[in-house]
Amino acid sequence: LELLKNNQQLSGKRVLITAAGTREPIDPVRYIGNRSSGKMGYALAEAAAVRGAEVLLVSGPSNLAVPPGITVKRVETAAQMRDAVLAEFDNVDIVIKAAAVADYRPELPSEQKIKKSDNTLTITLIKNPDILRELGEKKKPHQLLIGFAAETQDLLVHAREKLIKKNLDLIVANDVTLPGAGFNIDTNIVKLIHKNGDIEELPQLSKKQVAEILIDKIYAMMTKST
Ligand code: CTP
Ligand code: CA
Repeated sequence: LELLKNNQQLSGKRVLITAAGTREPIDPVRYIGNRSSGKMGYALAEAAAVRGAEVLLVSGPSNLAVPPGITVKRVETAAQMRDAVLAEFDNVDIVIKAAAVADYRPELPSEQKIKKSDNTLTITLIKNPDILRELGEKKKPHQLLIGFAAETQDLLVHAREKLIKKNLDLIVANDVTLPGAGFNIDTNIVKLIHKNGDIEELPQLSKKQVAEILIDKIYAMMTKST
């Protein structure tokens, strides 16, 4: 009984997790994408569900299987991800934004397949909305907001800036240039930066292990703030 109880720390909590990368159409057959596989986000969804949370996964395109008991809303573009996330935000207690959202999209996707002609092709890109920043502005005191920061240099400086700018409770910073971290692999090396300034450095771990540790930290944050 004690085991069961310990395992269900998130029962009654609603958790929204975004995962994988977005695709921004150039024309009907092409898009701008990124190397995110969704592994970190799907591992988080599973870890939260195992601990009893009601999990809504908003996922960009990914080949991964959706773990049992999880509701998934599939999206393609950043705009679709924003709509899906904003539609649920007021109803959830915790948001974890593991998705790799495209910062820019083609301003005017071509309705027809673009034919090759000149030696160079210029596509004008326009900035996408920053979903996490919007959530940070709307956040209620009972809600926890967790973001990710993928960096190639000055990891802690940039991650801390994002934590503040987006009004997060915790940011998971990873240096995607390290072997054993980053896109499309099963392991990650992350630093957890709390809004009070505390930094926890985790060793190279499987993404599933990182997810479990993160869910434990979130539970600890919840019980501290209530
Ligand atoms: N994010 C988001 N909407 C965007 C871009 C990013 O919600 N349009 C979220 C990501 O899901 C992630 C966090 O913001 O949780 C940080 O993403 P990252 O790409 O590291 O930072 P940016 O703020 O986009 O800054 P930059 O890419 O210039 O480093
Ligand atoms: Ca970005």
